[in-house]
Amino acid sequence: MAAEPKIKTIGVLTSGGDAPGMNAAIRAVVREGINRGMKVKGIYQGYKGLLNEEFVDMDARSVSDTISRGGTILYTARCAQMRTPDGQKAAADVCRRHGIEGLVVIGGDGSFAGAEKLSEQGINTVGVPGTIDLDIACTDYTIGFDTAINTAMEAIDKVRDTSTSHERCSIIEVMGRNAGYIALWCGIANGSEDILLPETYDYDEQKLINNIIDCRKRGKRHHIIINAEGIGHSSSMARRIEAATGVETRATILGHMQRGGSPTCRDRVFGSMMGAYAADLLADGKTNRVVGFYHGEYVDFDISEALAMQKHLPEDMVRVSKALSI
Ligand code: ADP
Ligand code: F6P
Repeated sequence: MAAEPKIKTIGVLTSGGDAPGMNAAIRAVVREGINRGMKVKGIYQGYKGLLNEEFVDMDARSVSDTISRGGTILYTARCAQMRTPDGQKAAADVCRRHGIEGLVVIGGDGSFAGAEKLSEQGINTVGVPGTIDLDIACTDYTIGFDTAINTAMEAIDKVRDTSTSHERCSIIEVMGRNAGYIALWCGIANGSEDILLPETYDYDEQKLINNIIDCRKRGKRHHIIINAEGIGHSSSMARRIEAATGVETRATILGHMQRGGSPTCRDRVFGSMMGAYAADLLADGKTNRVVGFYHGEYVDFDISEALAMQKHLPEDMVRVSKALSI
């Protein structure tokens, strides 16, 4: 028998960009919360819904048939009011008025900053990393990344087919905000000739141009450049490259398709494990924590410490991606 929960009622919300696997995390919070003897309220539209008191009482059946669904059944939003001290106080007051003593926030660093503020106001909070960007320092994995890279990889394969047929250069822009993880993984998985990463790109376009010309001389029929969103400007880059190399060049921006779709097995499992872990932390009376998967283990960190941590692209992956593109 699990110990009596330290708190009776928790809320769960999703915030920031949606990510495949968020539903698995919601389901796990709800069901593990119930297993631990707590009531669970779903909060619609992230902090915006919290401030507008958009709640739904959840039971085990509320999350039936959701584990395989993309997006988030609780909807999500970005909410400027939550960044202000008045908004944060209002959100904590809403929680108190509805008896919500603990809150699971599924999202990225921005969402965790909001959770930290709520914990300062006496609401127990736990963050769960949900973002396709993989850009959260305290965890080696974020829910949604695997589905997004597989979706992008399949799309890039298709662009590559037509690019090869026409002997073109293709610049394919992938998401990731200011982080290059999606670009790096797809660059390797799709066998791209160049990967432009916000963390390392030196904006020396002449180097790119020279590489395209060299690759042609070595008999390559296509030239795939994966460009990270944080660098952007793929269409104008394509025009300049075509003019400088004489190689027909097209830009494809994959966009929001990368955030949708049924989550992969990995995202369902990480969503389930992290969501259950978060509910357990709240049942045990913990607050101001973020769940992470760090060095092969599920762990939790103080939110302030987690937000101060730094993350770097794996240098070996950057090196190998270049080494294999000859
Ligand atoms: P993510 O959580 O994916 O990083 P955002 O950065 O857009 O996405 O943040 C999501 C929401 O979290 C914001 O719209 C806002 O409501 C809240 N938030 C972001 N930063 C802060 C902050 N410094 N303080 C309080 N709330 C914040
Ligand atoms: O954080 C996830 C993400 O998809 C980023 O990769 C991207 O920069 C951003 O969200 C796009 O946000 P929006 O859906 O508001 O255009």
